Amino acid sequence: MREEIQRVGVVGAGAMGRGIAQVCALAGCSVQLFDANQDAVSSATGFVREDLMSAVARGKLSQADANAALQRVATARTLEDLAGCDMVVEAIVERLDVKQQLLCALEAAVGPECVLATNTSSLSVTAIAGACVNPGRVAGWHFFNPVPRMKLVEVIQAPRTDAEAVRLLANLSERIGHRAIVVSDSPGFVVNHAGRAFVTEGLKLLAERAAEHHVLDAILRSCAGFRMGPFELLDLTGLDVSVPVMESIHSQFYGDDRYRPVTLARTRLLAGLLGRKTGQGFYAYDGKGAKVESARAPLTGTLEPAVWWPATGDEALPESVVALLSTCRRVETPHEADVLLLAPLKRDMSATVAELQLDAAKAVGIDPVFGSANGVTLMVCPGTTATTVDAARSIFAMQSIKSFVVTDSPGFVAPRVVACIVNLACEMAQQGIASPQDIDAAVRIGLGYPAGPFEWGDRLDPKRVLAILEGLYATFGDQRYRPSPWLVRRAKLSMSLLTPDRSF
Ligand code: NAI
Repeated sequence: MREEIQRVGVVGAGAMGRGIAQVCALAGCSVQLFDANQDAVSSATGFVREDLMSAVARGKLSQADANAALQRVATARTLEDLAGCDMVVEAIVERLDVKQQLLCALEAAVGPECVLATNTSSLSVTAIAGACVNPGRVAGWHFFNPVPRMKLVEVIQAPRTDAEAVRLLANLSERIGHRAIVVSDSPGFVVNHAGRAFVTEGLKLLAERAAEHHVLDAILRSCAGFRMGPFELLDLTGLDVSVPVMESIHSQFYGDDRYRPVTLARTRLLAGLLGRKTGQGFYAYDGKGAKVESARAPLTGTLEPAVWWPATGDEALPESVVALLSTCRRVETPHEADVLLLAPLKRDMSATVAELQLDAAKAVGIDPVFGSANGVTLMVCPGTTATTVDAARSIFAMQSIKSFVVTDSPGFVAPRVVACIVNLACEMAQQGIASPQDIDAAVRIGLGYPAGPFEWGDRLDPKRVLAILEGLYATFGDQRYRPSPWLVRRAKLSMSLLTPDRSF
């Protein structure tokens, strides 16, 4: 076993390189910073100094520790100055040929034991390493921006990367205070791969016209607890960035339908509706980049509808929903009711109403998974009347509970999006891209979701997640929704989604 990494070289002193230099120096490593443009090195060291001094001012760091860290960062004038490093990480321009050239030059400059790492966000680590004489020492070390605050790093193992190089990088990651997750080299690694389901399924719901973008965003925030909805996120990133990433991941997985974007995303990109940066995306923004909210009339609860709901069967309301109906006038039979409230999970409202032979005009679905005092999602079918919708919404308005109305969508909105996130993560585990625990950590820290997909799937019950996906698959006949065998097997055996596969 080799000595742990102490002497670090960083090539590329931009947004990522300066952050990596900072966290390594703070952890006690000596750092040599190199950039083809020497001015970039001086502005990077200035930036690191400012960031450390602001941490001192906030009482997060002692002046002595900040000074010591700054003294550990030195400027390298040539690649040969990196000769004594235990590890060199590159954070230069995202181009395969330039990165390959750099790694070949580094191989000639450093000692035989030196680990070479790449911070590439989208290129194949295998391809970058392929140009080296010794690809065994090359691994991915993928940080997130800003490096000092995003405490997650993916350590990417290409097929020929030595286990020792991975161990050394994972160990250094923990020493700098980051959660390291070990990932086998595959498109999008873990974080960018796992993040596909949220935005792609959000866009699919919009393309189906299940609801308008602001309703879908509000459901995912209020009911499921996401920090922002998919359309707020797309506006923040910009469609000029997001659409090429969606298309690239889809093609890197040879057109797998799970990653297929919807056409409206590219159409909006072509129309220049990029998001905040152009002042108009899914939302409109003012000159300062703040969202311009259009006023929506608040719903007041004045009606007191007679409501019927089934006590048994697949559409029976769960206790969590019944608890929201305590003030409601419940009637014994459907024909006495103004509103028929059903909680289908596998099927949409049209299929449910037809199966139960109910009056479509009075039928409204309620999300049985994410319905709470934070908000409820109501689903209508083409036959539901506007009077019924108003009556159903008034039940919740009277209690100051937000209600969101969507048209037919098996799995409503939040359960459907979360089921797709869980399914994609299960497929990643099935393919051995990373362990379920590492995928959970990557999604929580890297994407900021309220829970990791495996812990979320377990909380919802793998059987219910599977039922939602089977319903989507049956409704649309789309391979996008085919359940991962990882999920199917654990649901069938009533086991936790975190249960690993056996290997013999
Ligand atoms: P940047 O543009 O801020 O900095 C790149 C630096 O590399 C520049 O200072 C440039 O002068 C220098 N450089 C370019 N070619 C060079 C070469 N051949 N030799 C030496 N120096 C060279 O770029 P940023 O954002 O720091 O990205 C760097 C890498 O990190 C890219 O591979 C990117 O995909 C990856 N990355 C970026 C993230 C981000 O949010 N910015 C997140 C995760 C990874």
